[in-house]
Amino acid sequence: MSSFVVLGAQWGDEGKGKITDYLAEKAHVVVRFQGGNNAGHTVEVEDKQYKLHLIPSGILYDNKVNIIGNGVVVDPEALLSEINYLEGLGVSITPEKLIISDRAHVIMPYHKVLDALKEKARGANSIGTTGKGIGPCYTDKFERCGIRICDLINKDVLKEKLQENLTLKNKYITKVYDGEALDFDTIYNQYVEYAEKVKPFVKDVSVILNEEIKEDNSILFEGAQGMLLDIDYGTYPFVTSSNTTAGGVSSGAGIGPNKVNEVIGITKAYTTRVGKGPFPTELEDETGEWIRTQGHEYGVTTGRARRCGWLDIVIVNTSVRVSGLTSLVITKIDTLAGLDKIKMCVGYEFEGKVIDYFPASLEDLAKCKPIYEEFEGWGEEIKNAKTFDELPENAKKYLNRIEELTGVEISIVSIGPKRSETIEVKRNK
Ligand code: GDP
Ligand code: IMO
Ligand code: MG
Repeated sequence: MSSFVVLGAQWGDEGKGKITDYLAEKAHVVVRFQGGNNAGHTVEVEDKQYKLHLIPSGILYDNKVNIIGNGVVVDPEALLSEINYLEGLGVSITPEKLIISDRAHVIMPYHKVLDALKEKARGANSIGTTGKGIGPCYTDKFERCGIRICDLINKDVLKEKLQENLTLKNKYITKVYDGEALDFDTIYNQYVEYAEKVKPFVKDVSVILNEEIKEDNSILFEGAQGMLLDIDYGTYPFVTSSNTTAGGVSSGAGIGPNKVNEVIGITKAYTTRVGKGPFPTELEDETGEWIRTQGHEYGVTTGRARRCGWLDIVIVNTSVRVSGLTSLVITKIDTLAGLDKIKMCVGYEFEGKVIDYFPASLEDLAKCKPIYEEFEGWGEEIKNAKTFDELPENAKKYLNRIEELTGVEISIVSIGPKRSETIEVKRNK
């Protein structure tokens, strides 16, 4: 049995979708365990591109089981529209292929309304959320008033819970935020319709996954977002509302932590961030703009331009430490082709000292100055490499330095968005 986790080692959009699809070939089950449709995971196979938000990136294979775990927050409207989108692209979605946890929490219309109203009220301090209702839905989960999938598919329970919630939410929306009240009947009727369509996919995910483990089947857990968007170890409050780190797997899927064998950190060869918050190696200059253009760095979920900067090893090492990464996958190394010089942040200067960790306090973080090492660039020939040895010498130096600084082996180097543009690093052991 081998279960492995794919996690973003930075601020999201590292290429988790691409790598999950690639590695899914070796797995029997692919599981999302946290986040929701704030995620935007791109998979490219031959000439087709697929943009996934809620459905695991193993869905393109006909013989894989894809699971949305209890730790995920599910917007049924978004889920059904993603099913339609995939079916339109020729991907079959059946209850054998897609399973949704009965314990997952449901994103309701008032969560989306509150996400927008709270952001507006934060003014200059807004987080820059995706506006998908993620934070307000997780708030209700922890407040213990949320509506779960098992409640959604029971009309009477849905009615009661919606009534209770909406009464309070409408007060909150109108009296605190000056927004417009939502109508019970409209939501109830809409969600009863969604429930009918969602019901065939609903099962107890923990029971299923533990059966798979007993049968020695391989499970791939697909993280969403990334290290520094983690609610505990990210750049709080500029984070998402779930545990994006390895700790989220066990609680978000209902398996023991000892059931995971490998933790793979997906790391972009540079750094990007969407939304607000600190970013020590950000390039607010021509180079940053150049990387954005070369890397098509625009959000899959919101279309926003991603902020770009140099690779920050302090961040990757936070992921190594917090998630116990056992290997790294470096993506988008091809995007940097054409730059004369490439920099890598290897530590921060903070109050006259060199530190190699990410401070909790944003005020301290603002005082941190990145310490860089500089590398010679490489050219477009990188796209022709089929093996690690065939990569340009300067790219190999860059990659070897990442291994040295993190103490973690690179298992895969990705040189393009397509499934085929993937190099497995073979080692003589
Ligand atoms: P995710 O959220 O981590 O799944 O990443 P996104 O899909 O949001 O963003 C990654 C983008 O980079 C997508 O457009 C991918 O198709 C693309 N991509 C992934 N790996 C590579 C790579 O190695 N090279 C290039 N050029 N593009 C890549
Ligand atoms: P994938 O899985 C990049 C960011 C938002 C915002 C913050 C909080 O594609 O890597 P939220 O809507 O979650 O409350 O927003 O988190 N964010 C992401 N950034 N990639 C993502 O997902 C993200 N999901 C959320 O931009 O800064
Ligand atoms: Mg993304």
